[in-house]
Amino acid sequence: MNRFASFTRWLALCLLSGSVLAASPDGVVAVSHPAAAAAGARLLAAGGNAIDAAAAVQFALNVVEPQSSGIGGGGFMLIHLAKTGETFIVDSRERAPAKASADMFAPDGLPMEFPLASTSGLAVGVPGTLRGIDTALRRWGRKNLADTLEPAIELAERGFRVNRFLAADIANDHGRTRIHPETAAIFRPGGVPLAEGDWLVQPDLAKTLKRIAAKGPDAFYRGPLARAIVKAQQRTRSELGEAGQGRMTLADLAQYQVAIREPLIGHYRGWTLAGMPPPSSGGLTLLQMLKLLERFPLGDATQGYGFGSPQTLHAMIETMRLAFADRAVWIGDDDAAPVPRQGLLHPGYLATRAALIQTDRRMDTPQAGDPLPWESAAAVQPKPSRTKRDSPHTTHFSIVDRWGNVVSTTSTIEFTWGSGITVPGYGFLLNNELTDFNFMPAADAVQGNPGANDVAPGKRPRSSMAPTLLFKDGKPVAAYGSPGGATIINSVLNVTLNLIDHGMSMQQAIAAPRLSVTHAAGKVNCEGGQDFMQPRFGVAAQDALRRLGHVGLGGVGTDGCQDMIGSVQAVFIDLATGEQRGAADPRREGTVIRVKSPKATME
Ligand code: GLY
Repeated sequence: MNRFASFTRWLALCLLSGSVLAASPDGVVAVSHPAAAAAGARLLAAGGNAIDAAAAVQFALNVVEPQSSGIGGGGFMLIHLAKTGETFIVDSRERAPAKASADMFAPDGLPMEFPLASTSGLAVGVPGTLRGIDTALRRWGRKNLADTLEPAIELAERGFRVNRFLAADIANDHGRTRIHPETAAIFRPGGVPLAEGDWLVQPDLAKTLKRIAAKGPDAFYRGPLARAIVKAQQRTRSELGEAGQGRMTLADLAQYQVAIREPLIGHYRGWTLAGMPPPSSGGLTLLQMLKLLERFPLGDATQGYGFGSPQTLHAMIETMRLAFADRAVWIGDDDAAPVPRQGLLHPGYLATRAALIQTDRRMDTPQAGDPLPWESAAAVQPKPSRTKRDSPHTTHFSIVDRWGNVVSTTSTIEFTWGSGITVPGYGFLLNNELTDFNFMPAADAVQGNPGANDVAPGKRPRSSMAPTLLFKDGKPVAAYGSPGGATIINSVLNVTLNLIDHGMSMQQAIAAPRLSVTHAAGKVNCEGGQDFMQPRFGVAAQDALRRLGHVGLGGVGTDGCQDMIGSVQAVFIDLATGEQRGAADPRREGTVIRVKSPKATME
């Protein structure tokens, strides 16, 4: 029996013996795919810590959920170390190549069409995932890179069963698995799309992962594989001609560096949150919304609020519209240009924004505010601390280990299937992350627009990814996050409110229907149509929102809540008992594994 199969058998025995698992587990993983969750559990069971498990999960996801994340992409790993109490981020976000320019997506003064630009090499950012994992393992892991690659290599080599989510993403790919032949050969062999239950073996990917295991990350960032990446991103769509060719060079790959960042720290009703700073908008926008919503008694049904009430939903919608208006103008990679973080979170500034919310009607489309006058005022952040279509993809996973280290990672190749370009002979997809930049340069000194998210050489595109840690009394109690483009921030907001204001358990908070608005002028998206989403947003509540002037919900008396938003995977820790648990999202094949290792030893 191979090692993965015997581990899986052991795991099944563990899962059957609930009493063993209930006692002080050796860690918990929550991941959007069972095989990737098993990879993380295997590392925990073998004495690895949460960072090792996160590496194994990420590599396995590259195999079993290739449409969402992988070594051709980037992401953010939020880490809390139990021993030192430190919380920090390994930022492996993709970067623009040195030859990138602000107008590259609008060479003739008009923005390129997203479907064309995003499936051309021009969209490919310098990938960071592998450097990020290697950095995290070297500094904080107990295992080496090769150990963490083992489960993924076995999955790629021996194959796995295509689940219904992967099958659906192939079937509904907007052409993305058909454009470039190497991608079609994997996911549409002989022209036939893989279906649920089919067995997928990826020998090229297995070879690549083995090579990285043997030679380290330089086998990716230099040499023949780097040359193959550079060549592959010179692919262009015929409609774009040379303008669609990627600008990445071997030097861009060789010089890629991760950043280690401090999280943004904020407070909400006595809880503390650690979230993503720029280049993600995830933390700032989430904290802005929470501070605006703190003014409303969201949990109090006696005052007309409570989960799913029109007042609660209205407050959420207006808050999202205000925060996303600010996000569009002010947030980008502040390694490239300063983001007014303090101003955006300053109570005085937020009071001016909150004053725009009226309880009896939808406000006119809000513009971004001006946080700059508040920027030099008292600091709010204590220590320690485009506007394009949203793809449902990207991925999030959360892990806690036996020592109490916690990892909350969101990782992506941007749109579902990324650029659609598989590196020939190497079997992995390249991202289209550069389309997270503004397509049209926005910088305008007269209008006061800083062009925070305009393309520039070496810059990281603005992200929405929002891996989050929730603390009580200085101790981590939960780690969570979501995929979903700009809706990520709103999924994390919904879950946070469900936990704190509505007193739900983590599983209820994840399963409950979500609501999202990602543009100041935008329509309301809300979830429905799935049995697990309880309690649902009722038609009466939707009618009340329509009467307040909200759009996007369809006609009066109808159920306009039919979307699916995000996929939140979480771990949480009971401070009283020390018990570790997980909660998984039924919107994907979310899986929680609690590990009780036969060989567990305490550090
Ligand atoms: N590409 C998804 C994000 O970074 O938000």
